[in-house]
Amino acid sequence: MSDNKDSHPKLHIHTHDPDLKFDPPKRVAEVAHVQTFAQYEKMYEQSVKEPEIFWGEIAEQFFWASQPTGAFVQYNFDVRKGPISIKWMEGAKTNICYNVLDKNIEKGLGDKIAFFWEGNYPGDDKKITYKELFEEVCKFSNVLKQLGVKKGDRVAMYMPMIVELVVAMLACARIGAVHSIVFAGFSAESLRDRILDASCDAIVTADGVWRGPKLLNLKAIVDKALDFCAEKGKPVKSCVVVKHLTADGDATSKEEKGKRPCNSLQITMKDSRDRWWRELMTAASDHCDPEWVDAEDPLFMLYTSGSTGKPKGVLHTVGGYMIYAATTSKYSFDLHADDVYWCTADIGWITGHTYVCYGPLANGVTSVIFEGTPMFPDAGRLWDVVDKYKVTKFYTAPTAIRSLMKFGDNFVTKYDRSSLKVLGTVGEPINPEAWHWYNTVVGNGNCAVVDTFWQTETGGHVITPLPGATKTKAGSATFPFFGIVPAILSEDGVEVKGPGQGYLVFKQAWPGLMRTVYGDHERFETTYFKKFPGYYCTGDGAKRDEEGYLWITGRIDDLVNVSGHLLSTAEVESALIEHDSVAEAASVSHPHSIKGECIYCFVTLNEGEAFTEELSKELKQVVREKIGPFAQPDFIQNAPALPKTRSGKIMRRILRKIAVNDRDVGDTSTLADESVIDTLFSLRCPSA
Ligand code: WT7
Repeated sequence: MSDNKDSHPKLHIHTHDPDLKFDPPKRVAEVAHVQTFAQYEKMYEQSVKEPEIFWGEIAEQFFWASQPTGAFVQYNFDVRKGPISIKWMEGAKTNICYNVLDKNIEKGLGDKIAFFWEGNYPGDDKKITYKELFEEVCKFSNVLKQLGVKKGDRVAMYMPMIVELVVAMLACARIGAVHSIVFAGFSAESLRDRILDASCDAIVTADGVWRGPKLLNLKAIVDKALDFCAEKGKPVKSCVVVKHLTADGDATSKEEKGKRPCNSLQITMKDSRDRWWRELMTAASDHCDPEWVDAEDPLFMLYTSGSTGKPKGVLHTVGGYMIYAATTSKYSFDLHADDVYWCTADIGWITGHTYVCYGPLANGVTSVIFEGTPMFPDAGRLWDVVDKYKVTKFYTAPTAIRSLMKFGDNFVTKYDRSSLKVLGTVGEPINPEAWHWYNTVVGNGNCAVVDTFWQTETGGHVITPLPGATKTKAGSATFPFFGIVPAILSEDGVEVKGPGQGYLVFKQAWPGLMRTVYGDHERFETTYFKKFPGYYCTGDGAKRDEEGYLWITGRIDDLVNVSGHLLSTAEVESALIEHDSVAEAASVSHPHSIKGECIYCFVTLNEGEAFTEELSKELKQVVREKIGPFAQPDFIQNAPALPKTRSGKIMRRILRKIAVNDRDVGDTSTLADESVIDTLFSLRCPSA
């Protein structure tokens, strides 16, 4: 059970001088949109005091078919005053696809490269211009219409990192349909749950994908999910399949053959439901007028873990999301026309939605879409790609940085990285060691490192340095983005002014904030607005230091952040108890040197069952199959009983201590049976 020997509990504690400040590199500051901290402060002040003026001027740079019918912004954050509601530019009509494609082409960017696509295998690549992307999007818009997809309908996507995914997203946006992308690492059951929750009528997928050295048959997973849906009496009408791997595939031109092995992929097509992407596209017209939709019409939904276990469909709307994605991309990465920008995140997560697709396109830059993984074929791949495309702005996750650090500096330094100017990170707190390595080894001490804090719910960055203006500290996300008013609250809801620590909340609405949980507005209110009435509650803890810098300390609810992927402990537990041998299960977060956090489980077995290494392996497999491979627990321990209060509530606080072998478990007086603790310590996984 010991695949993370080098995990150590102090990972997020700052071992370096936390107050050491790093100036923005001169070469970055000199050309930046915001060149001084004073300039940031001035813009910030206007953004929070006069949001209509600040965002109104930004909105003018986009095309609106009509103006807002009421107030520019209208919101209620206080459950005591009525339902939570957030509206920006309601009544104004626009189309995000029109704004990021047609409008850029009108501006003369038609022949500019929108995306360099870099496949899993080095040498397998292609590029697409804004004009070509536009044509593909128009065609697929017509395909969707022909399949009966209309404004407001939900379309699921379960895709590899290929250009067709961006085409499908933008086509939905063009006709006013709502995309619901499910990361193609989720299991068939997770996919089914999301399709059913959103009542999707159509799904777009691909035959398969290579992820590093592993071949995944995506279509087979989709088939399984769709069979489940049909059994439940909610069949999905159409499934469009991109031939990505087969030799006569869509993306594979003749000269590319052989670069992308397809081995033994068995694809079955169901006549009434499944259609090949290319066949539909060949027959489709490349003219499609955009549907003018309301600024407050839904653009997409994206599921994120919730503490009760059932994932939440986070809903974003067109107008506010558009201006927020564009503005955060522009300022946090300081994007300019000549940039080659690369965000390594999968589009299946919010980072890919905002910072692979919508944000960079809204800024008319050239970006990289990467299908592969940082470790394939070796630990130098990311820097090889940076060198190949002369990437200027690069964005990745702390977990990737930590896993690459282990392989030494040579894998980095053997590639030319002189094009790099801004290095971003996102997904979890970055430990100072990783920050310093990123800054000095990857960035040669000559780049701006931006640690961007945000969430699926926030739509875009909410706490982040600006590359040309903010002096950074290793491990701090620094200061709020435009329009964001953070506060730190104590447990009883009192604002901590000045230095201190507590719950991170936001005091007013910004354009990119989610509008609701799809189909469950009450859950939206309960999750984010009930604990501290009047505030949006992030679920994260934060610390403000003497100089006003914000440091995110991590989740304070029952969510675990594994390699930047949020999972709920309840979700893992309900997977475990489906196993016949398990009577009860509890899972907690445990520090992990590469993943940041990993999952440690306690399982109580049914009478007569024995806890064996074999069973532990089986249980890990159950979680993989129910949720997805990334959710697999690192540790499973036998728990003849769990520490519970007299009312039967599991005390996870104590389990977290046991998982890290910390005997200082605190107050145990409310436990029904205190002897449980010693028993659990004696049965710990020794390698954890
Ligand atoms: C949670 C949101 C939107 C980013 C991708 C993950 C953690 C995110 C940081 C950061 C510290 C961070 C928080 C947050 N997180 N970025 N820079 N520093 N923590 O999106 O799945 O919605 O997860 O990721 O805990 O609440 P997500």
